[in-house]
Amino acid sequence: MSEQKYILVTGGVGFLGSHTVVSLYEHGFVPIIADDFRNSDRSIPEGLKKITGEDPIIYEVDVCDQLKLRKIFNDFDLQGIIHFAADKSVIESVKEPLKYYENNIGSLVNCIKLAEEYKVNNFVFSSSCTVYGEPDHTIVTEESPIKEAQSPYGATKQICERIIQDVNQRGSNIKFLSLRYFNPIGAHPSSNIGELPNGVPDNLVPYVTQTAIGIRDKLTVFGNDYDTPDGSCLRDFIHVMDLAEAHISGLKWLMSNTSGISEVVNIGAGRGVSVLEIIHTFEEVSGLKLNWEFGPRRDGDVGKIYADITKAKNILGWTPKFDVTAAMKHAWEWEQKIAE
Ligand code: UD1
Repeated sequence: MSEQKYILVTGGVGFLGSHTVVSLYEHGFVPIIADDFRNSDRSIPEGLKKITGEDPIIYEVDVCDQLKLRKIFNDFDLQGIIHFAADKSVIESVKEPLKYYENNIGSLVNCIKLAEEYKVNNFVFSSSCTVYGEPDHTIVTEESPIKEAQSPYGATKQICERIIQDVNQRGSNIKFLSLRYFNPIGAHPSSNIGELPNGVPDNLVPYVTQTAIGIRDKLTVFGNDYDTPDGSCLRDFIHVMDLAEAHISGLKWLMSNTSGISEVVNIGAGRGVSVLEIIHTFEEVSGLKLNWEFGPRRDGDVGKIYADITKAKNILGWTPKFDVTAAMKHAWEWEQKIAE
């Protein structure tokens, strides 16, 4: 019997995946990465090695390719799966919906089929707060209603959660944990890995750091008339290493869960921070003045949303440790490191 606790991490070279790979090693697991590098950088494996001292085990495969993915299930006695691999740009998903439906749903279906066939019983799925659509209340719990998706990307996350629910209801060897992420930001404190978006970033924090370093001219803050203390949107920004640790707590919970129950859990910092607060925090930690201006609202943006994380605390025994200041500091250190 294998001594090693092998965990398949699809999308393990991506922003969230790579940080989770670090946490897995730290907690005695051996991550096996499946990633086709479509949206991740070739420098990340080297960064992972610098942090962990281990050569990451990477299969360069498209997770939608069942034949190639199967090889990993044949090669390792997997104890669990963390399924990150997905396309995640809201804007792109509107332009290319089929790409999103094909990749995000196809990859999940493949992983579940193989997990059932090979009796891999512990499955963590990367979901998103996008499943709540435009929420009725600023603070959302897992019981908050699932509203109409604002984008094809959002729809894929809703459909994936539905697929998991259906498989679970039909009866399966797999115990599922869907983690609904809020807004992951920051980078590993060592600056060896971080967020590396392809092209112009959609997300706020890489846009801030790229503007400060001179890649972008100016940040536009989308909207100044929201019903929030300073008029800009309110989000729940969570340090990516806290999010990584949530996966470890999640895996351990799954492994010790003999009831076969599957759960859906919010993963955020549990507090609302505005876009302007992010800018001010950035200016504080960097000592720089950011070039920014207000612009019109962005289509599809929710005014204010943040997570009730009581369930994550109670069930997974997880609490976030970093604040927004640490996250912005690490994001800025990473941006400077990649500019070297
Ligand atoms: C989006 C997705 C979310 C996904 C997350 C991470 C939706 C509705 N949201 O979140 O599911 O998990 O990305 O990929 O599907 N902003 C600016 N200027 C910019 C960029 C952003 O002002 O140049 C503002 C936005 O208006 C928003 C906030 O910053 O208020 C955060 O935006 P962003 O980082 O894109 O994340 P979300 O839209 O919250």
